[in-house]
Amino acid sequence: MTEHLLRHIEDGVMTLTFNRPEKKNAITDEMYGELADALRSAAGDDAVRVVLLLAMGDSFTAGNDLASFARQSEGPRRDTSAPSHVERFIKAIGSAGKPIVAGVKGQAVGVGLTMLLHCDLVYVANDAKLSAPFVSLALVPEAASSLLLVSRLGHVRAFSIFAGGEVVGGKNAADWGLANQALPADEVDNAARAGAKRLAGQPAEALAITKRLMRDSEGIANRIDLELGHFATRLTSPEAREAFRAFAERRRPDFAKAEAESAWDRTG
Ligand code: COA
Repeated sequence: MTEHLLRHIEDGVMTLTFNRPEKKNAITDEMYGELADALRSAAGDDAVRVVLLLAMGDSFTAGNDLASFARQSEGPRRDTSAPSHVERFIKAIGSAGKPIVAGVKGQAVGVGLTMLLHCDLVYVANDAKLSAPFVSLALVPEAASSLLLVSRLGHVRAFSIFAGGEVVGGKNAADWGLANQALPADEVDNAARAGAKRLAGQPAEALAITKRLMRDSEGIANRIDLELGHFATRLTSPEAREAFRAFAERRRPDFAKAEAESAWDRTG
């Protein structure tokens, strides 16, 4: 474990805490690998009955590390025959058999929101800000969110989040079924810990079967694969490179310019 993801097991609960507060807990490749490994180990460890996701600092997570996206957008540098850490994480959380609880304060961006669709209990701060502005980054939804967010919120709300960059506040998140409860920020972690502890006291087999019955695991797995294919292509597109450059340079992206470059590339 790096210092950016803390892991602690106590009373049947494996707590995974994002610990990169200076970068709003943006998730690096290494952190994805550790998250995937932790979820795999939770699945095979009888001492773990529930996984709890928390975060240090003022934000849950600002999503995928954009510097890492920028590097990936320059072309494949890794061995693409093996799944990437992010793919391993998405597949691990998408197929997790044990319940997952999350406590969300501040920003939950991109995968910070989409991972919540795989959680079983979610507690958010009243002033939390949930968003998944994939299209603004010239990307597409991931983690089966193109299926799950739509089934939670309906097409128009989900579309506005993905394509319009709509930010959902904590209270709306609870009203719209993305979270169980919205609370004052300083009560979120304890509410999530209490929720996890309650579940850890429930009969594990009944819990696992109930979770399995409630989720279309095959549909989720298929959607994850479909999205990953599009995501990988988008990631190296000129418009995505422009979006990542713009974030690094703290300016608005100029997609028209990126499209013109792309047309120039196509015509040779
Ligand atoms: N990847 C890498 N670094 C990130 C990051 C990300 N996703 N999100 C924030 N950071 C970094 C910032 O670059 C900044 O670093 P610096 O202090 O070295 O310059 C630091 O975290 C604080 O972020 P800042 O933007 O100053 O905080 P803020 O409160 O003004 O805004 C956010 C917070 C989350 C709204 C804003 O940082 C943001 O939009 N981040 C990008 C989110 C995103 O698009 N994620 C990918 C989704 S697919």
